Amino acid sequence: MSVTRSAVTGVGAYLPDEVVTNADLSAIVDTSDEWIQERTGIKERRRARPDQPTSDLATEAARRALAAAGREASDVDLIVVATTTPDLTFPATAAIVQRKLGAGVGVAFDVQAVCSGFVYALSVADGFVARGLAKCALVIGAEEMTRLMDWSDRGTCVLFGDGAGAVVLEPIEGEGATADRGLLGFALRSDGTKGDLLYVDGGPSTTGEVGHLRMAGNQVFRHAVINIAEAVEAACAAAGVAVSDVDWFVPHQANQRIIKGVGDRLGLDENKVISTVAWHANTSAASIPLALSVAIEDGRIKRGDLILLEAMGGGLTWGACAIRL
Ligand code: UT7
Repeated sequence: MSVTRSAVTGVGAYLPDEVVTNADLSAIVDTSDEWIQERTGIKERRRARPDQPTSDLATEAARRALAAAGREASDVDLIVVATTTPDLTFPATAAIVQRKLGAGVGVAFDVQAVCSGFVYALSVADGFVARGLAKCALVIGAEEMTRLMDWSDRGTCVLFGDGAGAVVLEPIEGEGATADRGLLGFALRSDGTKGDLLYVDGGPSTTGEVGHLRMAGNQVFRHAVINIAEAVEAACAAAGVAVSDVDWFVPHQANQRIIKGVGDRLGLDENKVISTVAWHANTSAASIPLALSVAIEDGRIKRGDLILLEAMGGGLTWGACAIRL
């Protein structure tokens, strides 16, 4: 029997030019390169220009993903942007990307699940593509987290950066086996009772201002290590694969110690873990497609590999997805 799955057929990413080093930040808050590297693994992050909105980063990442897939903007019939830093309160950043790309009339909307946004957005787009409602979907994670920083709070301002990554999803026919290409299984979670551990203290219906990111870092850290591992196991079970079958683990890039903690809990070989946190810092919904793009470009991740994505962020939200590339 033939089964339609949505498959990742192209990946692309874009980083703004400006590099902000740990030394740059130690000139504005009481911190050091040594502390940041030891506690987080971060060496540097990128910052978008003041005149460069999130949609610009998203559009460039989308162009590169389309080129990798051998598709044109005119082929695109669905755009889902995962972002917590939209250009405007509305319209959706996805609709702005649609215009900038020159894509025709189709479906375009944003998904807001903060750092888990890319995994959530993939699951939403999977629903369209696998049910025949879209033939060429762009799923984009794009963020300008530096716009949400309180530059006097050393506990948060050293952790985040800007960037975008995108994938093209297209329907592919197979037998429904785990060896067939496609999105194989998801596990998504949200626990609104823990919202005060990581949030932005502003918004249109409260303060009327954008606000700043606030985080109880060590509590979020503990939650991440324990709960991500559970979601990874659940996504593998939903996909019908074992964690030990996974070729590459592409985690959300928040902190090298969280990546290692989750990997150790799952018994993963550290050589199978993709880490870009040193160079990108935490780019929220963009971090997974950025890391995926780096590892495809440098030849580690190849067509046919079984990859496992996971993320955790504000909400709290978390989740995982198994993909045969
Ligand atoms: O994307 C998902 C959301 N985010 C995350 O997953 C991040 C989760 N949390 C973390 O990554 C870590 O908790 C942090 C990196 C934020 C902090 O590391 P930690 O090992 O949990 O440190 P801590 O918060 O327990 O703070 C230890 C000390 C404190 O000083 P005292 O009270 O011990 O004197 C902090 O004030 O480190 C101090 N500190 C800093 N020192 C130098 C906090 N930030 C800094 C800093 N530079 N930038």
